[in-house]
Amino acid sequence: MAPEPLTVIVDGIAVRVAPGTTLLEAARAAGAEVPTLCFDDRLAPFGACRVCLVGLDGGERPVASCTTLCCDGAVVDTRDPTARRVAGAVVELVLSELPAAPAAHTELAAVARSFGLDPEAGPDAARWTGATHARALDDRHPYLVLQHELCISCGRCVRACDEVQGAFALTATGRGFEANVTAGLMGESFQEFSCVSCGACADTCPTDAITEHLLIDLAPKGAA
Ligand code: FES
Repeated sequence: MAPEPLTVIVDGIAVRVAPGTTLLEAARAAGAEVPTLCFDDRLAPFGACRVCLVGLDGGERPVASCTTLCCDGAVVDTRDPTARRVAGAVVELVLSELPAAPAAHTELAAVARSFGLDPEAGPDAARWTGATHARALDDRHPYLVLQHELCISCGRCVRACDEVQGAFALTATGRGFEANVTAGLMGESFQEFSCVSCGACADTCPTDAITEHLLIDLAPKGAA
């Protein structure tokens, strides 16, 4: 017998969802827009970025909607002021570490706009200043370019490589400001490691930190 569906209230709208549904899925079923950065619905939720915060049951502490499962009768507030304030600050911090503005078509730029931030201002969009990533570009792969300085450590490329392709060519390294992505632990090119050139990493990257050579070559002169 199929399990009984749950009723969840999202921004005042009741939706019926199956057990195991996340708050993010319920919110989207209710037509609410919740920004995300480390989430990709082709991949298992990771819960790393905290951009998808929502209010739950009137509590003071927002929760990550992409990893929190619905309970029957849950009340979700996607416009919870604390959730919006904290998630927006996370996006500001992400922008503040980049050396330049993210390209306008990227998910990061769209997420920044959803919080009222100007992604074209790059690190100046943030209230805080400090060190920005200055890392070498890795173009040793014949088809893919890894612009390390654009990596925001969302883990999507690593998970895509593992979950979509089973290639296990990429590894998350470092912590905090030093966090990044590499092949193996010795700085190999990811082609040298176990990359099969499927492009799943580039396809999921929300900042263009990994792109195909072709896209780089066709970028307008002077483009970020
Ligand atoms: Fe939910 Fe990143 S999108 S924690």
